[in-house]
Amino acid sequence: MSRLAMLGGTPVRTKPFPSWPVFDRGEEEAVLEVLRSGEWWRYSYGQAVEASAPGDSKVGEFQDAFAQRQGARYGVACSSGTAALEVSLKALGVGPGDEVIVPPYTFVATATAPLAVNAVPLFADIDCETFNLDPAALERAITPRTRAVIPVHFAGAAADMERILSIATRHGLFVIEDAAHGHGAAWQGKGLGSLGHVGTFSFQVSKNMTAGEGGLITTNHRDLAILCESYVWGGRKLGGAWYEHHRLGWNYRMTEFQGAILLQQLRRLDPQTTKRMENGLYLNRRLASLPGIQPLLVPAYATRHAFHIYVFRLEEAQFGVSRAVFLEALAMEGIPCTGGYAHPLYKNPMFLNQDFYPRGCPTSCNHYTGKIDYASFADLCPNAERACRKAVWLEHRLLLGGQDDMDDIVRAIEKIYHRREELSRMSNAR
Ligand SMILES: Cc1ncc(COP(=O)(O)O)c(C=O)c1O
Repeated sequence: MSRLAMLGGTPVRTKPFPSWPVFDRGEEEAVLEVLRSGEWWRYSYGQAVEASAPGDSKVGEFQDAFAQRQGARYGVACSSGTAALEVSLKALGVGPGDEVIVPPYTFVATATAPLAVNAVPLFADIDCETFNLDPAALERAITPRTRAVIPVHFAGAAADMERILSIATRHGLFVIEDAAHGHGAAWQGKGLGSLGHVGTFSFQVSKNMTAGEGGLITTNHRDLAILCESYVWGGRKLGGAWYEHHRLGWNYRMTEFQGAILLQQLRRLDPQTTKRMENGLYLNRRLASLPGIQPLLVPAYATRHAFHIYVFRLEEAQFGVSRAVFLEALAMEGIPCTGGYAHPLYKNPMFLNQDFYPRGCPTSCNHYTGKIDYASFADLCPNAERACRKAVWLEHRLLLGGQDDMDDIVRAIEKIYHRREELSRMSNAR
């Protein structure tokens, strides 16, 4: 085996992996069609729940098509996954004094959306094998103030929805599925986003479907879809006059350009998901035999995995190289990779200092009767702490390659493993 690229050898791979986003004439023509039509913003208010005429608006067409793809009755398009989470909480009536349980190993929006409605996010640990919310930790975190839980389908694999839904039902909690990673994925054959009270999606540029930015809320409840649309549309009311505003909504709308692009991206979702899944499961099989490499478990209930991120844990002692050195060595072998979230969310200064709103809202205000010390979550969430130290992430675009591309990934990791002693000597001498 040749010398490591990090020590002056030839990298396993010099050609690039597939780039992202993927687009073709479909997107180009769709954008031009909107541009030339002059209808850059077109939507009949109420389209989230009322049948729209074909060709009414790209946004209307897309939100129906995407909701249908995920097996949900209604879809409400909006400007981002962050907005989708905030709007969902508003529509469910979550607000001051309420606690919302979230995992700490996720993007910050999962935890800041509750803050945006003046509710208090509390963290419950993840499962160490899947990096998804641990139902037992969820149950332990419930207090009389808990109103909702936001399980994240991390990396595109379904969370343990059977147990989460049953705990939520027993305790009367709302369930908001954060499916920002879960386009096209399923739990027990049912589309993510169709299982809880609402589901939320992101179409930001890194996601498996994208228009640069964008978001969407899925729900099976007509009353919630009506409220979500109102909150996305400045508080308008179904059947009300145009300049009549009934609640504190915002402008979280999606443009026709985004709707048109996303309709094209949706065409590709199924074949791309199949490809990512084939390659992700292939890597799982190939890497599982290497000491110290532990691909995330794909539970049987995750019947369709979006593989938004390909993730494995690096057990440094077994593999024989520190994660920092491993990441550097793998990148130099031509395999782009990162360590993912640097720390669990509660370790962000915003949480440690409770620097949310002026005058202590929402954690130290009259509405809230609990006491919070976000630093104490480090003891309650050992799996999230470990995940931040051990994870290795590969972007989903890598999984759009062929089997030879996957073999390069395996070869590069094997090469690092076989040369681990040289690497350790080098990093000790640094
Ligand atoms: C798990 C999760 N939730 C929510 C979001 C927020 O989505 P957006 O960036 O569209 O606001 C993201 C985006 O990275 C995410 O990864």
